[in-house]
Amino acid sequence: MKNRLDDILAKALEEKDVLEHDELKHLLTCEEPGELAALYRAAYRMKERHIGRKVSLRGLVEMSDLCVKDCYYCGIRRSNRAVPRFAMTRDEILRAVRLAREYGYSSIVLQSGERSDPAFVDFVEEIVREIKRIDDFGITLSCGEQSSETYRRWFAAGAHRYLLRIESSSRTLYRTLHPDDAMHDWETRRRCLDFIRDAGFQLGTGVMIALPRQTADDLASDLEFFREVDADMIGMGPYLPHHQTPLGREFPELDAEKTLETGLKMIAAARLYLRDVNIAATTALQTLSPADGRERGLLAGANVVMPNIGDTAYRRGYQLYENKPDLDENLPEIRRKLEASLQSIGETVAEGWGDSPHFASK
Ligand code: 5AD
Repeated sequence: MKNRLDDILAKALEEKDVLEHDELKHLLTCEEPGELAALYRAAYRMKERHIGRKVSLRGLVEMSDLCVKDCYYCGIRRSNRAVPRFAMTRDEILRAVRLAREYGYSSIVLQSGERSDPAFVDFVEEIVREIKRIDDFGITLSCGEQSSETYRRWFAAGAHRYLLRIESSSRTLYRTLHPDDAMHDWETRRRCLDFIRDAGFQLGTGVMIALPRQTADDLASDLEFFREVDADMIGMGPYLPHHQTPLGREFPELDAEKTLETGLKMIAAARLYLRDVNIAATTALQTLSPADGRERGLLAGANVVMPNIGDTAYRRGYQLYENKPDLDENLPEIRRKLEASLQSIGETVAEGWGDSPHFASK
């Protein structure tokens, strides 16, 4: 007799009915090596079907670690005085982008700590315009919660994808991760996702995985949340304790292999459940397993990688969590290593912007 996992995987691959909460939970709680392998294999088949054996690259520019928020888990939270603060200048960002073009990137991601003061809003708008003048890059922004008007201005300037993680779809869990004030309000963040979509962006969201107090039910609900908001892109990664944060001090321990496994299961379940969205193999996977974390993410169904293209001088400032990889490596080395590792798993770099097929199908 076939077991329950096989039935669920067959149902997912048939693409007729949508997986139920319990079925998602079953995928997220399997542990036996043979079952895990079957889960990843099925997710990879789904990826091959909708995306092909292709990986889209985004050159990531971490523009600034100035942040007005005070999230309990994040290394660049406002209250962390130990972190050196920086903001790349316009010329520094444009230099990174030009270099990225030389190394074959056609899409870039601009990410920063959260700010919404007028100077910052103008700066981002202007930098998007300038980048569009250099070349017709695909531009993704990841600059936090903004007003609906700001999102519209940034879209009009030429950005067309936006990433804003909900961090957790559970309001209760969200509360344990953030101060209880107007600046850290789940409902506000949720509303921003609508603003982003309504402004015209392809919408990316995501969560942290293996958080303290997070259950398999929470993770299954996170996946359902992604479907509910009709996300085009998913960027999610394992939570990694940072010792200069309240949450990192309260729960300093990390079981790297287990955490990585939960991250991979979420990627696989997201691929099987959401089918044609873009899913990133995030840096946190690589941090947990520098040799092959990212590759394992791709083999579990992810199809986007975002190598850092910013100047190495700043990377130490931008430490949301500790031991981030590639701190000292420059563009050519990162690119060379990446192509070799993609080749080793039978994947190639996708041409063009690598937009979410899910968005195109709407
Ligand atoms: N571990 C993992 N991810 C983190 N982020 C912030 N701090 C951590 C951490 N300690 C993630 C958040 C945020 C994204 C930019 O980085 O999900 O949205």
